[in-house]
Amino acid sequence: MINVRKINLETPEDLLCVEITNTNGAKVELLNLGATIMSLYVPDRNGLLRNVVLSYNDISEYRANQFYFGSTIGRYANRISNGCFRLADKTYKLQINDFPNTNHGGYDGLHSKFFKIRLLDESVEMSYLSADGEAGFPGEVFVVVIYKLTEDNELIIEYRATSDQDTPLNLTNHCYFNLSGDPALLATDALLCIDAEKYMENDSHFIPTGRVLNVDSTKYDFREIKQISSAISQYNCKSFNGFNEYFLLRNEQSTCVLYDQRSGIKMTLRSNYPGIQFYTGDFLRNPRSGICLESQLYPDAPNRPELGDLILKPGCMYNYTIKYKFQIQ
Ligand code: BGC
Repeated sequence: MINVRKINLETPEDLLCVEITNTNGAKVELLNLGATIMSLYVPDRNGLLRNVVLSYNDISEYRANQFYFGSTIGRYANRISNGCFRLADKTYKLQINDFPNTNHGGYDGLHSKFFKIRLLDESVEMSYLSADGEAGFPGEVFVVVIYKLTEDNELIIEYRATSDQDTPLNLTNHCYFNLSGDPALLATDALLCIDAEKYMENDSHFIPTGRVLNVDSTKYDFREIKQISSAISQYNCKSFNGFNEYFLLRNEQSTCVLYDQRSGIKMTLRSNYPGIQFYTGDFLRNPRSGICLESQLYPDAPNRPELGDLILKPGCMYNYTIKYKFQIQ
């Protein structure tokens, strides 16, 4: 079932909330602002519905959405070093919102845009036309985000986009998961498995150094399910103890599993992206109250030719899908 309601809040355009519910009672609430997931309720082992993502208590916080709760991230998710890149002999300067770099597309990223809503039979389409030069990026880009909640409690997000010029694009969703269903509990007490043998080493600004390292005998080895917080305390390192790295998945069938023993809720994440940014929410007001598993293309790829040509070209379709399946264990 799909319902739309208007939220009473002063915003440049009407703030709308679309609610998709399945027959199990699982429910996702979406906002047209940033094509954002505002809440996601799934049953726990006792059949009680629990919100497994972080939501602001005060809805007006979605206007600025300082922490990108549940929002669509673009045009380029993750960092672009020094806020610029070169393409066809031209330098493009972006907004430096994470000094000295650009993070998540800059201040005028997709999280700050009002999307148009179209209700389809069983899904909701949100679209946005990003003007040539918006936030410094080349090309007029038409972005479509489709949300579907299936009867077996799977939330599917499809990203499609076209551009009239060559342009880098990296779209994802920035949900912070806390599968305990209680944001007062540490999300990092959950267990995690990532089918990745390699991760990208970062510098102190979370820009990849260019070294792709093996997870073997490191805290980054999540090939067997383990508790996130014990991995953090077992391998205490210098300035930053949490996780905020890009993991390269082994292949297209690779999954990530997040399991919370407190609620019995297990989430299996699948996508056709080559990897995920795993971030333990260390910079939240309540650090580690939610963790991000952001399926996406490589960080800083527009400045890293060695990662391959990931530029969206006119006449081509950007087409990636992320699936989060919720089960009880
Ligand atoms: C980044 C974090 C950042 C957060 C909010 C994550 O994707 O990896 O470093 O603090 O987004 O911007």
